[in-house]
Amino acid sequence: VRIGIIGGTGGIGEGMALRMAPFHTVVIGSRETEKAQVCCKECEEILMQRGLSCSVIGKTNQETVDFAELVILAIPFKFLVSTLQELKGLEGKIVVSPVNPIEKTGTFFSYVPPPEGSAGLLAKKLLPADARLCVAFNNVAANRWRDLDDPLEYSVAVCGDDEAAKETVRQLIASVPHLKPLDAGPLAVAPLVESLTPLLLNIGRFSRMKDVGVRYL
Ligand SMILES: NC(=O)c1ccc[n+]([C@@H]2O[C@H](COP(=O)([O-])OP(=O)(O)OC[C@H]3O[C@@H](n4cnc5c(N)ncnc54)[C@H](OP(=O)(O)O)[C@@H]3O)[C@@H](O)[C@H]2O)c1
Repeated sequence: VRIGIIGGTGGIGEGMALRMAPFHTVVIGSRETEKAQVCCKECEEILMQRGLSCSVIGKTNQETVDFAELVILAIPFKFLVSTLQELKGLEGKIVVSPVNPIEKTGTFFSYVPPPEGSAGLLAKKLLPADARLCVAFNNVAANRWRDLDDPLEYSVAVCGDDEAAKETVRQLIASVPHLKPLDAGPLAVAPLVESLTPLLLNIGRFSRMKDVGVRYL
């Protein structure tokens, strides 16, 4: 599967590219081609130092959509609407939202979803009707993705209404060593998947732990 990461130059996008590029063709998307290419070079160098060959390409976000079969929306919640309004050609593609609508108020993080109920449900409204949306990767911290010395021993909950798309996303997750995909149900449960993340951030903050994740046994 050709993977495209919108906002792939960011924390989680680059981390995912590093973990996925040894096994898949990955396109890092950006609003600026040059920024995407710099990011690709960085990924290639990191992976080459470890003796891993990889296929990673830098393009604009639109070119990324055009090239990819599976598109990951690795952008902050506040840019979800504007980004999806601009991108064309998502019809029929598998789209994955790791987007968490989170705010920090005072000392703690809260889940602050849009009126639709979650970032995933808002994305569903904005995407073409036949885009095959899944919500996944919401609860794995960017630093964990990026630290290649750290085995990613986490569970990744996937929800969505298109069973075949969900299966493809589960296969993508399973292709990353140690990550375990779990079917969490239909897209309607997206608020539950997303809202776990502020809980993890609060546990990290108040229990003095770094980059807390989950593993369901
Ligand atoms: N960070 C985590 O640990 C983590 C974990 C799980 C899920 N998530 C979710 O993953 C998503 C990305 O998180 P992140 O931490 O990787 O975000 P980020 O690093 O803050 O931003 C990601 C990318 O968004 C792009 N961007 C910035 N401003 C934009 C704008 N005005 N319009 C369109 N794109 C813009 C930038 O790419 P260009 O400048 O190259 O266009 C940037 O590299 C978020 O929704 C977050 O909730 C994050």
